[in-house]
Amino acid sequence: MAFRIKQLKRLNKKQLLFLEKKEEEIFHSAGINRYLLPVFAKYGKLFVIYKDNNIVGMAEFMSDWGDIKKVYLVGFSVFSEYQRHGVGKRFLSGLIERLKKENIEKIELTVDLANKKAFNLYLNAGFVKKEFSKDEYGPGNDRYIMELSLKE
Ligand SMILES: CC(C)(COP(=O)(O)OP(=O)(O)OC[C@H]1O[C@@H](n2cnc3c(N)ncnc32)[C@H](O)[C@@H]1OP(=O)(O)O)[C@@H](O)C(=O)NCCC(=O)NCCS
Repeated sequence: MAFRIKQLKRLNKKQLLFLEKKEEEIFHSAGINRYLLPVFAKYGKLFVIYKDNNIVGMAEFMSDWGDIKKVYLVGFSVFSEYQRHGVGKRFLSGLIERLKKENIEKIELTVDLANKKAFNLYLNAGFVKKEFSKDEYGPGNDRYIMELSLKE
Protein backbone atom coordinates (compact mmCIF):
# COMPACT_ATOMS: atom_id res chain seq x y z
CA MET A 1 0.00 0.00 0.00
CA ALA A 2 1.34 3.41 -0.93
CA PHE A 3 0.73 6.04 1.73
CA ARG A 4 1.84 9.65 1.61
CA ILE A 5 1.29 12.61 3.88
CA LYS A 6 0.75 16.00 2.29
CA GLN A 7 0.26 19.48 3.69
CA LEU A 8 -2.57 21.29 1.93
CA LYS A 9 -2.04 25.05 1.86
CA ARG A 10 -5.00 25.74 -0.38
CA LEU A 11 -8.10 23.68 -0.95
CA ASN A 12 -9.90 23.33 -4.23
CA LYS A 13 -13.70 23.15 -4.18
CA LYS A 14 -13.78 19.37 -4.31
CA GLN A 15 -11.30 18.96 -1.45
CA LEU A 16 -13.12 21.55 0.67
CA LEU A 17 -16.50 19.86 0.37
CA PHE A 18 -15.04 16.39 0.80
CA LEU A 19 -13.07 17.28 3.93
CA GLU A 20 -16.03 19.16 5.41
CA LYS A 21 -18.22 16.08 4.85
CA LYS A 22 -15.68 13.82 6.53
CA GLU A 23 -15.31 16.18 9.51
CA GLU A 24 -19.07 16.20 9.95
CA GLU A 25 -19.32 12.40 9.69
CA ILE A 26 -16.59 11.88 12.25
CA PHE A 27 -16.94 14.78 14.69
CA HIS A 28 -20.56 15.89 14.07
CA SER A 29 -21.13 19.40 15.42
CA ALA A 30 -17.47 19.61 16.50
CA GLY A 31 -16.28 19.07 12.91
CA ILE A 32 -14.31 21.79 11.16
CA ASN A 33 -16.48 23.32 8.48
CA ARG A 34 -15.93 25.00 5.12
CA TYR A 35 -15.37 28.38 6.75
CA LEU A 36 -12.56 27.16 8.97
CA LEU A 37 -10.84 24.54 6.83
CA PRO A 38 -9.27 27.20 4.56
CA VAL A 39 -8.21 29.15 7.65
CA PHE A 40 -6.37 26.10 8.98
CA ALA A 41 -4.85 25.52 5.55
CA LYS A 42 -3.54 29.10 5.34
CA TYR A 43 -2.76 30.12 8.90
CA GLY A 44 -2.40 26.82 10.73
CA LYS A 45 -1.40 23.53 9.17
CA LEU A 46 -3.71 21.10 7.45
CA PHE A 47 -2.36 17.67 6.60
CA VAL A 48 -3.97 14.77 4.82
CA ILE A 49 -2.82 11.20 4.32
CA TYR A 50 -3.35 9.55 0.96
CA LYS A 51 -3.61 5.86 0.27
CA ASP A 52 -2.83 5.69 -3.41
CA ASN A 53 -4.91 8.58 -4.75
CA ASN A 54 -7.52 8.74 -2.00
CA ILE A 55 -7.43 10.93 1.08
CA VAL A 56 -7.97 8.57 4.03
CA GLY A 57 -7.31 10.84 7.01
CA MET A 58 -6.74 14.42 8.05
CA ALA A 59 -5.13 16.48 10.80
CA GLU A 60 -5.22 20.16 11.69
CA PHE A 61 -2.77 22.13 13.81
CA MET A 62 -2.69 25.60 15.33
CA SER A 63 0.42 27.17 16.79
CA ASP A 64 0.76 28.88 20.12
CA TRP A 65 1.25 32.63 19.77
CA GLY A 66 3.05 32.85 23.08
CA ASP A 67 5.45 30.02 22.25
CA ILE A 68 5.89 29.47 18.53
CA LYS A 69 7.64 26.16 19.09
CA LYS A 70 4.46 24.69 20.56
CA VAL A 71 1.57 23.45 18.43
CA TYR A 72 -1.90 22.22 19.21
CA LEU A 73 -3.40 19.25 17.35
CA VAL A 74 -6.98 20.41 16.86
CA GLY A 75 -8.30 17.42 14.94
CA PHE A 76 -6.93 14.04 13.93
CA SER A 77 -8.82 11.34 12.11
CA VAL A 78 -8.65 8.32 9.87
CA PHE A 79 -11.79 7.79 7.83
CA SER A 80 -13.87 4.90 9.16
CA GLU A 81 -13.39 2.47 6.27
CA TYR A 82 -9.58 2.71 6.70
CA GLN A 83 -9.40 2.44 10.48
CA ARG A 84 -7.71 -0.39 12.42
CA HIS A 85 -5.09 -1.01 9.73
CA GLY A 86 -2.27 0.99 11.21
CA VAL A 87 -3.01 4.17 9.24
CA GLY A 88 -3.48 6.31 12.38
CA LYS A 89 -0.16 5.15 13.80
CA ARG A 90 1.64 5.76 10.52
CA PHE A 91 0.00 9.18 10.03
CA LEU A 92 0.75 10.37 13.56
CA SER A 93 4.39 9.28 13.45
CA GLY A 94 4.82 10.93 10.04
CA LEU A 95 3.40 14.18 11.40
CA ILE A 96 5.67 14.03 14.44
CA GLU A 97 8.72 13.61 12.18
CA ARG A 98 7.70 16.58 10.03
CA LEU A 99 7.14 18.82 13.03
CA LYS A 100 10.50 17.79 14.50
CA LYS A 101 12.17 18.87 11.27
CA GLU A 102 10.46 22.25 11.63
CA ASN A 103 11.98 22.55 15.11
CA ILE A 104 8.64 22.32 16.85
CA GLU A 105 9.32 21.33 20.45
CA LYS A 106 5.92 20.40 21.81
CA ILE A 107 2.58 19.05 20.59
CA GLU A 108 -0.48 19.40 22.79
CA LEU A 109 -3.95 17.94 22.26
CA THR A 110 -7.10 17.08 24.11
CA VAL A 111 -8.89 13.76 24.02
CA ASP A 112 -12.30 12.60 25.17
CA LEU A 113 -12.05 10.36 28.24
CA ALA A 114 -14.16 7.72 26.50
CA ASN A 115 -12.06 7.69 23.32
CA LYS A 116 -9.83 4.74 24.19
CA LYS A 117 -8.71 4.27 20.59
CA ALA A 118 -7.31 7.76 20.30
CA PHE A 119 -5.99 7.80 23.87
CA ASN A 120 -4.03 4.56 23.29
CA LEU A 121 -2.74 5.79 19.96
CA TYR A 122 -1.39 8.98 21.55
CA LEU A 123 0.01 7.12 24.55
CA ASN A 124 1.83 4.66 22.30
CA ALA A 125 3.27 7.57 20.32
CA GLY A 126 4.81 8.94 23.51
CA PHE A 127 2.23 11.51 24.58
CA VAL A 128 1.73 11.87 28.32
CA LYS A 129 -1.39 12.83 30.18
CA LYS A 130 -0.77 16.34 31.47
CA GLU A 131 -4.05 17.17 33.16
CA PHE A 132 -7.72 16.42 33.41
CA SER A 133 -9.78 19.36 32.25
CA LYS A 134 -13.36 19.37 33.47
CA ASP A 135 -15.89 20.95 31.10
CA GLU A 136 -13.11 21.80 28.62
CA TYR A 137 -15.67 22.08 25.81
CA GLY A 138 -18.73 23.00 27.87
CA PRO A 139 -20.76 21.19 30.53
CA GLY A 140 -20.06 17.45 30.59
CA ASN A 141 -17.38 17.68 27.89
CA ASP A 142 -14.38 16.70 29.98
CA ARG A 143 -11.03 16.06 28.33
CA TYR A 144 -7.55 14.82 29.06
CA ILE A 145 -4.89 17.26 27.97
CA MET A 146 -1.93 15.35 26.57
CA GLU A 147 1.44 16.53 25.37
CA LEU A 148 4.47 15.23 23.56
CA SER A 149 7.89 16.77 23.90
CA LEU A 150 9.84 16.62 20.63
CA LYS A 151 13.11 17.78 22.16
CA GLU A 152 15.84 15.13 22.21
C1 LIG B 1 -8.33 7.29 16.62
C2 LIG B 1 -8.07 6.94 15.15
C3 LIG B 1 -7.35 8.11 14.48
C4 LIG B 1 -7.15 5.70 15.10
O1 LIG B 1 -6.84 5.43 13.74
P1 LIG B 1 -6.58 3.95 13.21
O2 LIG B 1 -6.04 4.04 11.84
O3 LIG B 1 -7.81 3.14 13.41
O4 LIG B 1 -5.47 3.47 14.25
P2 LIG B 1 -4.39 2.31 14.01
O5 LIG B 1 -4.99 1.18 13.26
O6 LIG B 1 -3.13 2.92 13.47
O7 LIG B 1 -4.14 1.86 15.50
C5 LIG B 1 -3.22 2.63 16.26
C6 LIG B 1 -3.40 2.39 17.73
O8 LIG B 1 -4.66 2.95 18.11
C7 LIG B 1 -5.18 2.18 19.15
N1 LIG B 1 -6.44 1.59 18.70
C8 LIG B 1 -6.92 1.53 17.43
N2 LIG B 1 -8.15 0.97 17.44
C9 LIG B 1 -8.43 0.66 18.73
C10 LIG B 1 -9.55 0.09 19.39
N3 LIG B 1 -10.65 -0.31 18.72
N4 LIG B 1 -9.50 -0.04 20.75
C11 LIG B 1 -8.43 0.36 21.45
N5 LIG B 1 -7.33 0.92 20.89
C12 LIG B 1 -7.34 1.06 19.54
C13 LIG B 1 -4.17 1.14 19.49
O9 LIG B 1 -3.27 1.66 20.42
C14 LIG B 1 -3.46 0.95 18.18
O10 LIG B 1 -2.19 0.45 18.31
P3 LIG B 1 -1.97 -1.17 18.29
O11 LIG B 1 -2.61 -1.66 17.01
O12 LIG B 1 -0.47 -1.29 18.29
O13 LIG B 1 -2.64 -1.68 19.51
C15 LIG B 1 -9.37 6.58 14.41
O14 LIG B 1 -10.05 5.58 15.11
C16 LIG B 1 -10.31 7.78 14.22
O15 LIG B 1 -10.16 8.57 13.31
N6 LIG B 1 -11.31 7.87 15.10
C17 LIG B 1 -12.35 8.93 14.99
C18 LIG B 1 -11.80 10.31 15.21
C19 LIG B 1 -11.09 10.46 16.53
O16 LIG B 1 -11.53 9.95 17.56
N7 LIG B 1 -9.96 11.19 16.49
C20 LIG B 1 -9.19 11.50 17.66
C21 LIG B 1 -9.72 12.74 18.28
S1 LIG B 1 -8.77 13.20 19.69
